[in-house]
Order: sequence, then C-alpha cells, then structure tokens
Amino acid sequence: MANTLTTENKAFIKSHLVDRHHTNTLKWDALQERFGNPDLLPLWVADMEFKTAQPVRDALIARVQEGVFGYSFIPDSYKEAFIHWQQDRHGITVKPEWLRFDNGVVNSLYAMVNWLTKPGDPVLIFQPVYYSFANAVTDTHRELISCNLLNTPQGWQVDHEALHTIIRDRKPKLAIWCSPHNPVGRVWQPEELEAVLTPLVDAGIPVVSDEIHEDFEIGDTPFTSVLSVANGRFQDHVIVLNAPSKTFNLATLLHSHVIIPNSAWRKDYDDFIKTIHQTEPSLLGVVAGEAAYRQGTPWLDQIIAIIRYNDSQVRHILHHGAPQIHLQPLEGTYLLYVDLGSYIPADKIKDFVQNHCHLAVDYGAWFSPQTPTFIRLNLATDPQLVARAAHQIVTALQETVPQAL
Ligand SMILES: Cc1ncc(COP(=O)(O)O)c(C=O)c1O
Repeated sequence: MANTLTTENKAFIKSHLVDRHHTNTLKWDALQERFGNPDLLPLWVADMEFKTAQPVRDALIARVQEGVFGYSFIPDSYKEAFIHWQQDRHGITVKPEWLRFDNGVVNSLYAMVNWLTKPGDPVLIFQPVYYSFANAVTDTHRELISCNLLNTPQGWQVDHEALHTIIRDRKPKLAIWCSPHNPVGRVWQPEELEAVLTPLVDAGIPVVSDEIHEDFEIGDTPFTSVLSVANGRFQDHVIVLNAPSKTFNLATLLHSHVIIPNSAWRKDYDDFIKTIHQTEPSLLGVVAGEAAYRQGTPWLDQIIAIIRYNDSQVRHILHHGAPQIHLQPLEGTYLLYVDLGSYIPADKIKDFVQNHCHLAVDYGAWFSPQTPTFIRLNLATDPQLVARAAHQIVTALQETVPQAL
C-alpha cells in the first residue's frame, strides 16, 4: 500500500484540485442546510474535489462550442469505448445488444424494483449498504429484508447461513447487490460471489448488481463482475448497473448503464421502462463518458494513487492517536467506514462528529441500523483535508474521552 506521494502525484493534485465553495456544491455549500453548520469539514457525498480528466473537459468544451443541444442518440463509438474499457481493464465481456442507458444508477435501482417486483414483495439487500438501496425498496412500498454483513476479524463477510435461511423462509423476489461494496470497501472474491449468487439463482431470484465502483481497486484484489464470475455462468440471472460517473467525477451529467445479458429479460425491461421513463440519453454524459473511457486511464491512475495515499494517512494517524479504532482494509471504493464505537456510544456520535470533530460525514446509521457508531469518510479529496479530518478525530477524542486513549 503506497504511503508517499510522488512528484507526479503532487503536480496532479495541484493542477486538478478545485475550491468548490460557492458553486452550489452539495458537499460544500449545503452544510448549513444538511448539518446545521456551514463550517464543518465535509467528507460526506461521494464525489471528488478533483477536476475530471483533461481529455474529458476538452471533449465537453468542443461539444458545448457547437452550441446546439437537441435530441441525440448514443453512437456505436460510445458503446465500443465502454465495451473496450470493460474488457481491457476488468476482463469483462459485454455485448453491445446487452446495453441500455439511464440517467443515473439510483434511477435504475428504483426502476429495477418497480420492474421486477410488486408492492408488498420482499426485496433483499445486504446492509450496511448505500442508503438508496433501502430507499428504493421502501419508497416503492416493497418489504425490505436485509441479510446483514458480518464485521469479522477477517473483514466484512456475507452471512451465508442467514442468506440461506432468508431465501428459504422469506422468499425474496429480488436481490440487490453492491460490488465493490459501499460503504464497507470490499472487492468481493470470485468464490464469495459464487457463494452468494448460487443460492439466489437456484431459487429463481434475479440479482441486480450495482457495480458503479468497479474502477476503484484500492487494495490487491482485482474487481470481478457478476457477469464474468464462474465463466459467465450467472449471466442470464443478473443485471448490472454501472456508469462512468463515479470513476470520472461526472455525477450530474446523468448518464449510466443497465446491462441485461438475458434477451427475454431485455425485451421485458424495454416493454416496462417505456411505461415509466421516456427520457432522452444525456448528451454531455455520453460525450464525457466516451472521452473518459478512451483517454481517462492516466487520470484515473493518479486518482487511485491519491486514494491509496489518503487511506494510508488515515490509518497512520488513527493508529497512533486512537489505537482502538479498528479499520478494515479498503479494497475498493474511495469510502472508508470507520467505527468510533470503542470510544463513543451510538447516541453521542452525531454530537461528537459535528461539534467536536467539526466534520460532515455520512453516518453509519444511514447505511444500516446495525452500524450506528460508524462514520464514512470520503478519501477522494485533497490529502491535506483528509489528514486534517483524521487529526480532528484524534484531537476530539483526546478532549472528550482522554481516559480511553
Ligand atoms: C453504490 C452506489 N450506487 C449508486 C450511486 C449513485 O449513482 P448515481 O449518481 O448514478 O445515481 C452511488 C453514489 O455514491 C453509490 O455509491
């Protein structure tokens, strides 16, 4: 794990870091509204303080200069660029006819629930997990079932026994899976994926896999898609959601993929989706995405080096200043799930984080009722801010619970 920044990394940071204050940025400019204090150091929302790759900006500028933003379609060149990226970076084969498009992965999560289940149906998720998963289930009046992940000394794991019991007794109609996993940072091993998919697929339960974080391989484990695990054995039973947006910091360009290898499902999806969603593809999202997939690798490699460095900074500072905080390895994503529970009880976490650490974070309670003492830190930002945040946690602990340190 890298724990220094190279000269090249430093130059990259200097040329890409932006002050996002006063740009209507959710992370920076909504602190008063969301946390009641505009002066917190924000490490919440999962986007970055880095400008997207220069070739992406160039492609966007060129398209904007044309000056017309009328109806458009997604060119074959976009599909080729994406398919090549999947193959080249991850060894995943995607056929062009499998591809559908949407205006964001969260949109698609809701569409999947509406398409594949009926109100009242049980839908399975694996908490703690990105809160839009639970929202997509409960907002659409389905029954939320969680197979809670286990926080073990060997890392976060799926509770396979619980999974089998849930499948047998609760008979979910749909499972929504997160890979790599936000917020626990796992990049699932092929054997783990097989062990999750096999009982679900044997029981005839479709699996939607949200793979938006696929490009953030932070540890040594390479990302494996549900599309390619076990030589593609599960392809006909899975739907993959992903996008260039998380990887290249393009969230509000509103462009994402729905990948459906099963041709009968695809037809069914097409029939369903036109009843709820007649939106055009995002022109600028497609322009940016194609440039990113074709020319974004050097930029992404820099970002990954910075995330690794930030991860090692937090570990170092917390290890020395607050040794009872046990951190699981960050294998994937740029989001670190930190348990403050050995120092701060659940009912004091918010007060501690906001009033003593002066941080704005995503709270563990947002991801699962089981993780109320966790906070999630966004590491895709200025290393100085990340170090400051970690020091603020240590200082606040020294002030609040000196006897425990
Ligand atoms: C697992 C996961 N899915 C989806 C999203 C958001 O996707 P989108 O912005 O395309 O709706 C996020 C954002 O953090 C995420 O972590």
